[in-house]
Amino acid sequence: MIRNVTKKDIIPLLQLEHETFSFKERCKRETLKKRISLFPDQFLLYEKEGKVISYLSYMISDSIDIPTLSLSPKRNDKKGKYILLLSLCCCPKEQGKGIGTELMNMLLENTDKDIYLLCQENRRSFYERFDFYTQERISLDNRTWLMMKRCCKIKAGGTTK
Ligand SMILES: CC(C)(COP(=O)(O)OP(=O)(O)OC[C@H]1O[C@@H](n2cnc3c(N)ncnc32)[C@H](O)[C@@H]1OP(=O)(O)O)[C@@H](O)C(=O)NCCC(=O)NCCS
Repeated sequence: MIRNVTKKDIIPLLQLEHETFSFKERCKRETLKKRISLFPDQFLLYEKEGKVISYLSYMISDSIDIPTLSLSPKRNDKKGKYILLLSLCCCPKEQGKGIGTELMNMLLENTDKDIYLLCQENRRSFYERFDFYTQERISLDNRTWLMMKRCCKIKAGGTTK
């Protein structure tokens, strides 16, 4: 079942982050809490048998400065031009079963905005499946990140680009 996040989900989300990411990559409790309280409608959870096993969260902005914005959830602006995908993860036991794809498709089917994300090289081919392409490589925290972009084919008003 896919649903929006609520404040009660913070503990299962921290557990999911713990299972899926290294300490350095994990989203911190305070950041998650801010995202949950400021834009729960942009935070989708995938629940299976009562357990949160995957989630996707994003911001909306006119800026594409993801490193800064991801730590400043208050700067979310629903009227912004771009979607910034902040996080997509699935717990290791459930990976490869199509859950990440389902969450991603739900986002893509419900937006007419271009989408940006930052990821490591080992995720590039996953995002290419959804027509993301590498716009540039940036250096952050001594690592190289790919800035990937997906142009929305349907623009507001129903016309194709
Ligand atoms: C990336 C992630 C969100 C994808 O979610 P998921 O539910 O496992 O993805 P899906 O099952 O929808 O995968 C769809 C396809 O993408 C592939 N895929 C999954 N993760 C991938 C990745 N990191 N890189 C490339 N392809 C990937 C799957 O094998 C599947 O291919 P198939 O349709 O040919 O079988 C999830 O795997 C995750 O949270 N990973 C965290 C750890 C991580 O990033 N690992 C990177 C490798 S070390």
